Amino acid sequence: MKVLLAGGAGYIGSHTAVEMLQAGHEVVIVDNYYNSSPEAVRRVEKITGKKIALYEADATDKAAMREIFTKEKIDAVVHFAGMKAVGESVAKPLMYYRNNLDTTLTLLEVMKETGCTKFIFSSSATVYGDPDSLPLYENAPKKACSNPYGWTKWMIEQILMDAAAADPELSVVLLRYFNPIGAHESGLIGEDPKGIPNNLMPFIAQVAVGRRDHLNVFGNDYPTPDGTCIRDYIHVVDLAKGHVCAAKYAESHKGCEIVNLGTGKGSSVLDMIEAFERVNGVKVPYEITGRRPGDIAVNYANADKAKELFGWTAEKTLDDMCRDTWKWQSQNPNGYAE
Ligand code: UFG
Repeated sequence: MKVLLAGGAGYIGSHTAVEMLQAGHEVVIVDNYYNSSPEAVRRVEKITGKKIALYEADATDKAAMREIFTKEKIDAVVHFAGMKAVGESVAKPLMYYRNNLDTTLTLLEVMKETGCTKFIFSSSATVYGDPDSLPLYENAPKKACSNPYGWTKWMIEQILMDAAAADPELSVVLLRYFNPIGAHESGLIGEDPKGIPNNLMPFIAQVAVGRRDHLNVFGNDYPTPDGTCIRDYIHVVDLAKGHVCAAKYAESHKGCEIVNLGTGKGSSVLDMIEAFERVNGVKVPYEITGRRPGDIAVNYANADKAKELFGWTAEKTLDDMCRDTWKWQSQNPNGYAE
């Protein structure tokens, strides 16, 4: 298959590019480098020894998308071209709604025009909101989100369900990611957040490498064994492989499927610090501070559906995630910047 990765130069996109190429697919990447770097694509080519057709373009630019779809004859689209910083989305909601919804609508319209029928969407466990029961199954109710970023995922899922219901040719897979962390085992690609990291793992890694002096742990008074929040951390390479499976599934199925990508296991913030220090022999100084608004105490997936539909399960351990994050961060202390 020839697969277009919209936003394919970013963290999850670049890892998915590696796995798609290694599974024998051709990869086309469209990215505007808002939160990503062309250097990531060069490194994917280095890891795989394969070429990628790379376009610097905005996925909201319909004329540019039309040209790329027509020229490249795309079979399937994986849509990662979204903004994802929770705090920024609260400050700039219109930018988030405009970009995240518009990229989706533009890609869908151009797919329709050019006869491309397979669409894999980068969704998030954030659409489950504060869960009534755990683990989270795909049929758990979608709940109110605490920020515009989350609402964009929520709304795009609805748009895609409606589009699939109206078009019997369309095949859509909504992948609900839990907490992707880690990096490719080569240490050549990894997560390179702009500015101060919002998420736990890149923050831990930047403290360990000396870019920041300590981690703030947001609250230790949650109803969990050690008082800190619990999440289902999943290795980004396992997550990337989930996209290869989803694209294969979309080849022979129509309609819309929702699939969790998680491990089914929860770890607390303190578990993550302990594992990172132990596996890598480094120190991660931290301080307990107040809760971060909008955080939920616990979430983790039931990942049985991915196994049933795709034959996929997460294989890598928390120790692998910590080791690979550190390899990437210590080899690239400033990310992709020189
Ligand atoms: N945390 C800290 N200190 C930090 C950063 C995070 O203590 O500096 C804690 C948070 O309070 C939370 C845990 O680490 O308890 C994980 O936080 P992340 O920001 O890494 O991840 P979230 O679970 O908040 O959010 C992630 C993705 C979102 C997605 C959500 C879905 O980043 O995109 O999962 O559940 F929407």
